Amino acid sequence: MLMQRVKPLARILAEGSDESGGLRRSLGPWALTAMGIGAIIGTGIFVLTGVASATRAGPSLTLSFVVAGIVSALAALCYAEVSSKIPISGSAYTYTYATMGEVLAWIVGWALVLEYALGASTVSVGWSGYFTFILHTLFNWNIPSAWQHSHWDATPGIANLPAAGIILLITALLVKGTRESGAVNAVIVAIKVAVVLFFIAVGLGHINPANYHLPPGPQTGAGGFFPFGIAGMFGGAAFIFFAYIGFDAVSTTAEEAKNPGRDLPIGIISSLVICTILYIIVVAILNGMVPFNTLNVNFPVAYAVNSVGLAWAGVIIAFGAIAGLTTVLLVMMYGQTRIFYAMSRDGLIPPIFVRLHPAWRTPWVSQIIFGVLIAAAGALFPISILGSVTNMGTLSAFILVSIAVPVLRRRHPEMRGSFTIPFGPYVIPVLAAVSAFLLILFLAVGNPLVGGFFPLVWLAFIVWFAIGLVFYYSYGRNKSTVALEQLEGLAVRQPRVN
Ligand code: ALA
Repeated sequence: MLMQRVKPLARILAEGSDESGGLRRSLGPWALTAMGIGAIIGTGIFVLTGVASATRAGPSLTLSFVVAGIVSALAALCYAEVSSKIPISGSAYTYTYATMGEVLAWIVGWALVLEYALGASTVSVGWSGYFTFILHTLFNWNIPSAWQHSHWDATPGIANLPAAGIILLITALLVKGTRESGAVNAVIVAIKVAVVLFFIAVGLGHINPANYHLPPGPQTGAGGFFPFGIAGMFGGAAFIFFAYIGFDAVSTTAEEAKNPGRDLPIGIISSLVICTILYIIVVAILNGMVPFNTLNVNFPVAYAVNSVGLAWAGVIIAFGAIAGLTTVLLVMMYGQTRIFYAMSRDGLIPPIFVRLHPAWRTPWVSQIIFGVLIAAAGALFPISILGSVTNMGTLSAFILVSIAVPVLRRRHPEMRGSFTIPFGPYVIPVLAAVSAFLLILFLAVGNPLVGGFFPLVWLAFIVWFAIGLVFYYSYGRNKSTVALEQLEGLAVRQPRVN
């Protein structure tokens, strides 16, 4: 029942080649790796590390990054195998439709809205933090606090206007058909990596080992390396998992890759490995530079260098962060409309989401609807809630992609991708699915100082899926093009009665 209505692979592959409409196959392994890094490095490392150190894990956040890196690597291996077999610019949604059928594909598509749309809201709040830091530091110009913060922020406000502003601006660019060109992307990725290396170089000389073992206190929990215990370390891993989101974006470029079967796995895995190494070093330095409990700000990396007297370095980092976060926003918001485009083409959501602008050839109605919703979420909710719910959506999509690996091998043994995960069809996919599920459980571990259990994020997630399923059963199930074709097929096969 659950696995009914599998979309035929032949049709998916055919749609892929129609859709590419002669896109130039220009991306090789380096370009794909750069694209992955461009989508990965963002608010996770530049912003959430601060919140996570201060409120969840303290210095043990370094280990949290190792844990989240391992979970991501397991999922990345699964993505690599599936994308090498179905090298189509879909995503987890397409992979699931081809392997496990419509209901689960719908659930993945619905989960990906959280990954891409709420992910963009999360990044916009981070963008706003660095933007206001620059305005303040360079021009001594302060946006009123009420208009920099949501009602539920540590410093309560009314709405985060810069966050909403950048989303609306990017929406306008996307409606006009702006996509990053490969060259612009490469330059921004280089800036972003340079800023991270710059922070490492500057910060290394300012580590105070005492910061790794602060005494216990009202804000420092039990003190030491694990101020909030092992649970805090895992809670931190679940929270900063956000930093790793994005390697899956490489799989959306399949039709522009020179040799997708080989280069997608390379792009996915190498971008993840590079980012993991950079992240672990950055977090270790950040927690060594300043006491972790001071890091609960929206611009922690700039704050840390500022606190050791290097205000100029803080400004350089803030500019790099802003450039880097802007490209993450472009990738996420573009990805969101692309997924809804695919779902709408399959009949699962109303056709308005495939309507193209007559002149710009962009899905402008979809872009504007999402732009307004994403901007509103960024303006009104705190980054910790936005990031956590984004993680839940992404982790649930990862679980289904992991399951897709053995299903695809069993249902299509004839398909040979260029990348096969080691140790057979079960070991890594099962580890990937179980570890992603454990991170979902740990997402509810909040700050023990203000109540250690935080089930609100689970609740938000459950409500979201309940809405999705109601929508699917009242709309998509009846309009699905795959279902209609299967019915037509049956009608054609019926013997004629004269
Ligand atoms: N990994 C991306 C970021 O941290 C989504 O912004």
